[in-house]
Amino acid sequence: MQEFALIILAYLIGSLPTAIWVSKIFFGVDIRNYGSGNAGATNTFRVLGVQWGTFVMAVDMLKGVLASFLYLLLPYYVDSQYEHVNFMIGLGLAAVIGHIFPIWANFKGGKGVATVFGMVLAIQPMVALFVALIFLLVLFLTRFVSLSSMLAGIAFPILILWIFNEPEHSYRIFACAIAFLIVLTHQKNINRLLQGNESKARILKYRDR
Ligand code: G3P
Repeated sequence: MQEFALIILAYLIGSLPTAIWVSKIFFGVDIRNYGSGNAGATNTFRVLGVQWGTFVMAVDMLKGVLASFLYLLLPYYVDSQYEHVNFMIGLGLAAVIGHIFPIWANFKGGKGVATVFGMVLAIQPMVALFVALIFLLVLFLTRFVSLSSMLAGIAFPILILWIFNEPEHSYRIFACAIAFLIVLTHQKNINRLLQGNESKARILKYRDR
C-alpha cells in the first residue's frame, strides 16, 4: 500500500509540467503552441532561450532523480540491493509517465528524455555518464537534439547488456523499455528527420515567429 502511494507521488512529481508553467507564468504563452510543440527542455531552449531551457532541463531531470529516491521513505528497502533497485525503477518510470502524460496539463507533456536521464543518473550514474557522452557526441556531429536523444536512448540497453554486462533481469528489461519509449515519443521527429525538415539546435525567441 505504501509502495502504491509512493508510485502515485512519483507520477505526480513527474507530472509537474515545467516547460508549460514557465512559458505561461513568465511569457504568457503555452510552449505547446510554438516551435516543435513539445513541452520539454529542447523546445524551451528553442523558443524561450538558453536560461529557461537550462532551467527546464534541470527541473525535468531533477523530477526523475527525486522520484527514484522516494524509495528512501521506506527504510526496509535500503538493505536489500535488488529489491530497492526494482522499486527505484518503478518510481522513476512513474515519473517519466507523469512527464509524458501530466495530470496537471491535460495529459499532453514532453517526450521524457530529461526525466529518463534523471532516473538513470539516480539508479546507474556510470551508465548515465556514457549515455550523456553519446548524446553530446551525436549532438556535436548532427545538431539534431531528437536524433541525439534517440541514439542515446538506444545506446542505453546496449551499454547495459554488452558493455556493463548487467546480470540483473530488471535492469535489462528496464533498459530495453526505455529505448522503446524514447523512440516511441519521437515519432514526429523521425518523420521530420526522414523528410529533411527537422530543426537543428539553435535559439529562436517565440516573439520572432
Ligand atoms: O527531448 C526532446 C527532444 O529529443 C526533441 O525535442 O522539441 O525537438 O521535438 P523537440
